[in-house]
Amino acid sequence: MPDLATATTPANGTELPKPNGLEGVVAASTELSHVFGEEGKLVYRGYDIHELAGKASFEEVAHLLWVGNLPNRRELADLEEKFGRNRVLPDDVIAGLRALPKHAKPMDALRTGVSLVGAVETEYFDDEPDLDEAIALAARFPAILATFFRLRQGEEPIPGRSDLNTAQNYLYQLFGKEPEERHWKPLETYLVLLADHGLNASTFTARVIASTDSDLSSALTGAVGALKGPAHGGAPARVLDMLNEIGSADNVDAWLTNALDSGQKLMGFGHRVYKAEDPRAEILRGMAETASTPEFFELSKKTEDRALALLAERKPGRRLYTNVEFYSAAVLAAVGLPGDMFPPTFAVARSVGWSAHVLEQVAHNRLIRPQSEFIGPKDKTFTPIDER
Ligand code: ACO
Repeated sequence: MPDLATATTPANGTELPKPNGLEGVVAASTELSHVFGEEGKLVYRGYDIHELAGKASFEEVAHLLWVGNLPNRRELADLEEKFGRNRVLPDDVIAGLRALPKHAKPMDALRTGVSLVGAVETEYFDDEPDLDEAIALAARFPAILATFFRLRQGEEPIPGRSDLNTAQNYLYQLFGKEPEERHWKPLETYLVLLADHGLNASTFTARVIASTDSDLSSALTGAVGALKGPAHGGAPARVLDMLNEIGSADNVDAWLTNALDSGQKLMGFGHRVYKAEDPRAEILRGMAETASTPEFFELSKKTEDRALALLAERKPGRRLYTNVEFYSAAVLAAVGLPGDMFPPTFAVARSVGWSAHVLEQVAHNRLIRPQSEFIGPKDKTFTPIDER
């Protein structure tokens, strides 16, 4: 087996670089967002994330990403009206979610639901993606999740309301009562922070699918699948598991040391692009301090401090910092969500970024089709089955 990190691949007689995990490869041009990894800076359409978090609503940020500018009042009212109108799921989609076993993971239910929307609403989602489809599908994400959440606990789904914003409506559809501001506001800021993030793995997946002239539901179904893994959006539930296992501040050191000794990766730390602190982690830390209980925040903070010290000691030069997932766990738990709803709630936010990337991809499309390095034999002869 060649050293995959350094091997080169001959294609059409030319040697091509082949970095492991496509690290450092520029695979798309985008005006949407960028991660300045060395500076620890995240920009949406020219706005530093600090300019938007806690100031702009999720719908304003959606307009920014989809259309290119922060909306004026009329544009915002129009977008909010469209979100509201699209929160009601077709009966066939609800029936499909009802057919899932109660033990299905919400992330799997979401992936299935997004795919079902494409299969059921073919007149809408089976052609070239456009802005109205992006709004409609983004509005269906929280509705799908809330529907499954209620069905799995034996309760009937609650139709979405058009007079609430996305964060309020999501909590309303989940829990059946109008949420308090201390719950929906942090959730809204979380949604803003997670709405887009350069060419991450799930966004790349969505763009690859869109580049084949496929439809929006297919592109976002694939993106949900890519987000699910713990190396990407599946980490925050595991952060909560880790903090629950640690249990108390006294146990932090022993737990982390044991985890690292046994070769585990610490959930909520490290990032492919950030080589400084993830700015979203910094904002979420502040939110966690006010939103979660003092005991839980103290446990999280002590775990973070010790993890950073141990990682610096054991992985010198790797520049491992807290990533967005670490304090997402504390914030989402404080909002009232169970751990298995964390990854799909991340997807609710990212549905906007994914669809914005799909629209950008189709506007300047060229099929994304890289080369592979063939490392198998190529001159074998066929042996009939009875002679094998
Ligand atoms: N805990 C312990 N060691 C780590 C961690 C961690 N969280 N992250 C990286 N390392 C180590 C690796 O073992 C590796 O060490 P080595 O060079 O001695 O083998 C070195 O740091 C470099 O790590 P890579 O795996 O090469 O980093 P990569 O860019 O491939 O992976 C990733 C980044 C997947 C995020 C990784 O840091 C990780 O698994 N973190 C934990 C899971 C997590 O928090 N995921 C959420 C990511 S944020 C998001 O997607 C929204």
